[in-house]
Amino acid sequence: MMISQQQSWHEAIGVRHARRSFDATSLPTDELDALEACCREFRPFGDLARTVLVREAPQRLFMGVAGSYGGISGAPSALAFVGIKGAPHVQAAVGYTGEGLVLEATARGLDTCWVGGMFNARHAALLGGIGERERVYAVSPLGHAAAGITTKEQVVFRMGRPKFRRALDEIAPGNGAWPAWARAGVEAAQVAPSALNRQPWRFRLDAGAVIVSAEGVDTPRVSKRLDCGIAMLHFELGARSAGADGTWEFLDGRDAARWVPAG
Ligand SMILES: Cc1cc2nc3c(=O)[nH]c(=O)nc-3n(C[C@H](O)[C@H](O)[C@H](O)COP(=O)(O)O)c2cc1C
Repeated sequence: MMISQQQSWHEAIGVRHARRSFDATSLPTDELDALEACCREFRPFGDLARTVLVREAPQRLFMGVAGSYGGISGAPSALAFVGIKGAPHVQAAVGYTGEGLVLEATARGLDTCWVGGMFNARHAALLGGIGERERVYAVSPLGHAAAGITTKEQVVFRMGRPKFRRALDEIAPGNGAWPAWARAGVEAAQVAPSALNRQPWRFRLDAGAVIVSAEGVDTPRVSKRLDCGIAMLHFELGARSAGADGTWEFLDGRDAARWVPAG
C-alpha cells in the first residue's frame, strides 16, 4: 500500500509526544475539514478499521467509568478509533489506521494522546455515527496543548523528561546485521506510543521479511495488538524512508503481522 503523506508522517514521528492538557481553543473549520478528509481517505483495511473526527469533544468523553480521572482536559476536538467488533486482526488494523491520523495531526502542528483505558465508551459510541457492528477501541484528544508542561503532566505522567524507550536490541534482537531498510523501520517503531508505555512489540527477520509480534500474554482492556498496529505504521514509514517498498500480511497467534518487501 502507498502512503501519500509518507514524508510528512515520517517527520512527525520525531516530534510527536502524548499531551493531555489542552488550551481549549477551537480548531479552524478548514483544519477540521482537512482532517476529516484524511479520515475518509486513510482506510487501508477497508471497513475493518476507521478513524472518526469528533469536531466538538464533550469533556465527558475522557471520563473513565470509575469517575472523573481521565487525565485529559481542555481538548476542543477528538479522534475516535473504530473497528468491527471482535473481527480477526481488528486491533492491529485500528492501531495502524489511527496512528495515521495521529501523525497527520502532528504534522499539522496539533497535539494528541491515544487513550485506551480512561474514556467513556458509551459516550464514544454515540458520537459520529458508530455502526452496530463497530466498537470504539480508543480515542484521542485533538487540539493545541496548553503552553508548557502542566504540573499535572509533570507529576502524573513524568513529562518533561526523556521518555523511556527499550533498546533496539531488546525490541529487535540482532538488528545490527539487518538490511538498512529494516533497521530504519525498527528505529521508527522504537518511538511509537503504546499503552502504559509498555512497548510490547518485538521484531524479527524471517526469510527476508520482518515479523512483528506482541511480547508476553495479551491484556484484555487495551490489547497489545493495538500497540503492534501502531508500531507497524511506524515501521513501514521508516522502511519506506530508506527506499523499501512492501506490504503487510496479518498473522495469527502471537505474531501480529509480516512486512514482505517487494521484489
Ligand atoms: C493504545 C494506547 C492506549 C493508551 N491509553 C492511555 C490512557 O488511557 N491514558 C493516558 O493518559 N495515556 C494513554 N496512552 C498514552 C501512553 O501512555 C503514551 O503513548 C506512552 O506513555 C508513550 O509516551 P509518548 O506517546 O509521549 O511517546 C495510551 C497509548 C496507547 C498507544
